[in-house]
Amino acid sequence: MRFLTARRRHPAAKALVLVFALLVMGALYSALAPSSKSAADTSTSQQVEEGRALFAVSCASCHGLNGEGQTEGTIQGPPLIGVGAAAVEFQVATGRMPMARPGPQAEVKASEFTEEETLALAAYVASLGPGPAIPEPADYDPAGLSEEEIARGGELFRTNCSACHNFEGAGGALPNGKYAPSLFGVSNLHLFEAMLTGPQQMPVFSNGVLTVDDKRAIIGYLNELHEQPSRGGLALGGLGPVSEGLWAWLAGLGVLVLFAIWIAAKGVRAR
Ligand code: HEC
Ligand code: HEC
Repeated sequence: MRFLTARRRHPAAKALVLVFALLVMGALYSALAPSSKSAADTSTSQQVEEGRALFAVSCASCHGLNGEGQTEGTIQGPPLIGVGAAAVEFQVATGRMPMARPGPQAEVKASEFTEEETLALAAYVASLGPGPAIPEPADYDPAGLSEEEIARGGELFRTNCSACHNFEGAGGALPNGKYAPSLFGVSNLHLFEAMLTGPQQMPVFSNGVLTVDDKRAIIGYLNELHEQPSRGGLALGGLGPVSEGLWAWLAGLGVLVLFAIWIAAKGVRAR
């Protein structure tokens, strides 16, 4: 149906959408950038201490008091030494951790921690051993990517991700009650961190395997892909531009017909 979209839309519509998206992106960026920036720069010993305290209360029961992991008994957790700040930010901000109960896969839920607490936990775990840091906005913000780069992102996505996440990023089931989640609505930061840290069954795509530019291209592609349904305004049964066109046509035609009848009626009366 995509070729229909292209044919039916006025050429300027695409440019307008793009300009609007860039404006929104710019606004979001300026709103979010300063806080994440300062957060990354201020991994102070105080933050590590705060993180250590939070960790002892919320995480140590499964991951051990010093993140050494716990592989015996009923409550278990893998060692966290060397998983890095990015893994903690991803796991805690998506609500996966602290894991509520044992199961095939940690559930995504509302996070129990503020952003500040999350960063403190991340700083503490990062202090246990070197691992991937939380990426900078410049790494995952796809603003300004060219159409070619976005197309390249699509190819990378189909090669590396679609086997599990489906070609549209809608997600899919995996063996043993596990699943690759839908990627709709996942923040750009978490898209980047998931690739960087490879949660659970997902492979790790380190920056050596998929460069920062590759990851950004994939993020740009997913942003564009997932924006599409809302581009044309009302969903109207999810049929997209075809049904919209049909409705516009029917409504427009209806108005014209009524107008013609009205003129005709007036004309008759005038005579
Ligand atoms: C009930 C036990 C439990 C609690 C509590 C818990 N975890 Fe976990 N955690 C797990 C298990 C099990 C896994 C591995 C399976 C998974 O990722 O779903 C895991 C995985 C992780 C990972 C991913 C490690 C990697 O290799 O990428 C991180 C990071 C993590 N936990 C951090 C935390 C933090 C921080 C807390 C506290 C806020 C916490 N966990 C609380 C059980 C727990
Ligand atoms: C082998 C299957 C597999 C492949 C390949 C794979 N993933 Fe995943 N992915 C998973 C699984 C399983 C999870 C869920 C892990 C969890 O919940 O702990 C996941 C989680 C994610 C998440 C987190 C979503 C959320 O709701 O928080 C993102 C983002 C993601 N993957 C993106 C990607 C991208 C981008 C690629 C390609 C570069 C990719 N994945 C490749 C299996 C896969």
